[in-house]
Amino acid sequence: MATVSLESFCSEIERCRVEALCALETAAAEEHLERARVEFAGARSGRLKSIQKQLGALEAADRPAGGRHFNELKTAITAALEAAQTRLARVAAAADAIDVTLPGQPFRIGHVHPITQTIRRVQEIMSRLGFESVDGPEVEDQWHNFEALAIGAEHPARDPLDNFYLAVAHGADPLLLRSQTSTVQIRIMEQRKPPLRIVSLGRVYRPDTADATHYPMFHQVEGLLVEPGATMADLKGVLRFLASSFLGGDVHVRFRPSFFPFTEPSVEFDMEWGGRWVEMGGAGMVDPAVLAAVGYDPATVSGFAFGLGVERIAARRYGVADIRDFYRNDVRFLQQF
Ligand code: DAH
Repeated sequence: MATVSLESFCSEIERCRVEALCALETAAAEEHLERARVEFAGARSGRLKSIQKQLGALEAADRPAGGRHFNELKTAITAALEAAQTRLARVAAAADAIDVTLPGQPFRIGHVHPITQTIRRVQEIMSRLGFESVDGPEVEDQWHNFEALAIGAEHPARDPLDNFYLAVAHGADPLLLRSQTSTVQIRIMEQRKPPLRIVSLGRVYRPDTADATHYPMFHQVEGLLVEPGATMADLKGVLRFLASSFLGGDVHVRFRPSFFPFTEPSVEFDMEWGGRWVEMGGAGMVDPAVLAAVGYDPATVSGFAFGLGVERIAARRYGVADIRDFYRNDVRFLQQF
């Protein structure tokens, strides 16, 4: 075999490197890649193989350097071949995942939860009567959840089994997750002077076993009006307006005598809608003891208050039979609203 100079051997290696890397990096399909593989790395007649054969034609002294260059070329081509295989496999997987020829799917947009919709709707209706929407904390003290509302130490509503008391340091005032939104009446009256019209909607907590009409967390609407000359007739008018606006159509409201420690007289109120009377909540004239507890003068101010369950009116309006459905987060249920 005629001898080959190291110089021409190296330029052959360089040419091969440029052509091989270019072919491998631009191969856009399996068959291009296979053709390039056979051309450069084919075991019998690939370019690498023929360069390897030329090694023997180098002067003996040039062989170590030539061998080093050859090995570098082989490593570079092997790496480029692997990189190209990975790249094409990834392209193939992505093509499998998205069929761009399929017709488009409608885009599903979420919406506000039915309980939140109900809350916003009640706030909007009450605002038309001048009731300002206010909030209170969900972790409460004994004063706001019970004492200021004339619920004394011996009252069964304070039973640890009927409330979520929190662990507090020994000797500290007990705290609890509020069991009613009537707490907000106290918080607002402590901060403001009459006249006032407020409505507060939020979560309350009671350790009830969950069933179709109970849940350990639910929502209440609390209304309070303190104004000179407020009467039970005004209370009934406000409730009827709320019910008619929320449920639509002609809704009647009826009072039944009842008892709450913080109202005197107290009533429970029902609504007649679609030919059926349904129990809705409690209400009454604010008890003078409550007015005194917040520093108002019961001889000169009076007012009324009411409370009702958000889940109950939402279930009534939407025809939901089991309030647990509101919390299951099943999109098939929620997307109906
Ligand atoms: N807080 C009472 C409850 O959770 C409901 C209630 C009754 C609220 C009478 C009131 C009221 O404001 O006047 O059972």
